[in-house]
Amino acid sequence: MWVRNLSDKETATRKLEHIKIVLERNVEASEGTLLNYVRLLHNPLPELNFDEIDISMKLFGKKLNAPIMITGMTGGHPEVTWINSAIARVAEKYGIAMGVGSQRAALEDPSLENSFKVARENAPNALIVANIGGAQLAKGLNLEQIDKIINMIKADALAIHLNPAQEVFQPEGEPIYRNVIRSIKRIVDELSIPIIVKETGAGLNGVIARELWEIGIKCFDVSGLGGTSWIKVESLRKRFRRNPDGFPDHWGNPTALSIIDIRTSVPEACIIASGGIRTGLDIAKSIALGSDLTGFALPALRALSYRGEEGLERLLDDVIWQLKVVMFLTGSKKLDILKLTTPLIWGRLADEMEILGISLEELLRAKLRRILTQKKR
Ligand SMILES: Cc1cc2nc3c(=O)[nH]c(=O)nc-3n(C[C@H](O)[C@H](O)[C@H](O)COP(=O)(O)O)c2cc1C
Repeated sequence: MWVRNLSDKETATRKLEHIKIVLERNVEASEGTLLNYVRLLHNPLPELNFDEIDISMKLFGKKLNAPIMITGMTGGHPEVTWINSAIARVAEKYGIAMGVGSQRAALEDPSLENSFKVARENAPNALIVANIGGAQLAKGLNLEQIDKIINMIKADALAIHLNPAQEVFQPEGEPIYRNVIRSIKRIVDELSIPIIVKETGAGLNGVIARELWEIGIKCFDVSGLGGTSWIKVESLRKRFRRNPDGFPDHWGNPTALSIIDIRTSVPEACIIASGGIRTGLDIAKSIALGSDLTGFALPALRALSYRGEEGLERLLDDVIWQLKVVMFLTGSKKLDILKLTTPLIWGRLADEMEILGISLEELLRAKLRRILTQKKR
């Protein structure tokens, strides 16, 4: 296994420490996405053949062969260069999107640029997303620096990540979030490429998405609760000095709720569903709840580290097949038809929707509005 080859010195750096922990320990939140409270109605007469199912879509003007993005994880250390290279080769081969991890390290030390540049070198056509923290923007990154990270990988879009839970649990963290929204607005006003605002496993919500929409953000990666928990990752680090007992590693907005909340708050927005997305059924449910595409991080890293590129390809083959099975069994020839499916929602997810004042009718209307505005473009 790749992680065994790391020397102690190398693991002393935070990036490698994170990767070592997520590969070796249970870092997933103890509470799930709430997608288990969603069911799609079986269609016993789909009136289509399995091989007619089309899961392609367009994002930021580029065609994706499947509604999947491997979301940003890494770069920023020579030891992880191979990870971005491998993800990029697979993304190019499968026609899916990929993000790189935070490029902050490469701004501080240009010798680390190569660990990001390899993404574009290995995926000349794939949709690639650059990455920087909202908190770093607020600390005063200038436009020249933002241009630099975009040009480093000839990015198609820029993801700005929000990670207050990680910053507050990270021993060296900087939980400084004042002026982030103003800094994001400055970037939106100046940049011409699409900008995605993403969480990192604790979930965006509808109110924040609305606020960001009003300053010009059109795309949201929910990165909700139910998958990788940074509260857990940081608590597992040797450097962690506080007592995390009693603090829930299930803090956050569950992915399913986050999708619904954002779709109904900003019906026309592009939504990427991520955080605990593990199967083709999760992908199908997320799309039926109102997302446009889905993303995952941890399973891709694990597949790659344990079984190499072949392992990652196998994972994609499996989830793509599972997604097509669900589409066949719901009679959805195309993603737009799946998007219009009425999801059956019950239990905790239904209760939490009710508390937020969101009805199923409102969700269905919002999903329809998204499809109609896309068709007009
Ligand atoms: C090892 C690792 C490193 C990550 N680093 C970043 C990062 O640098 N920037 C970012 O926006 N998200 C980062 N993430 C968060 C993921 O993009 C994703 O939002 C989150 O892990 C939830 O997805 P998952 O449950 O499929 O892992 C990282 C995730 C992992 C597992």
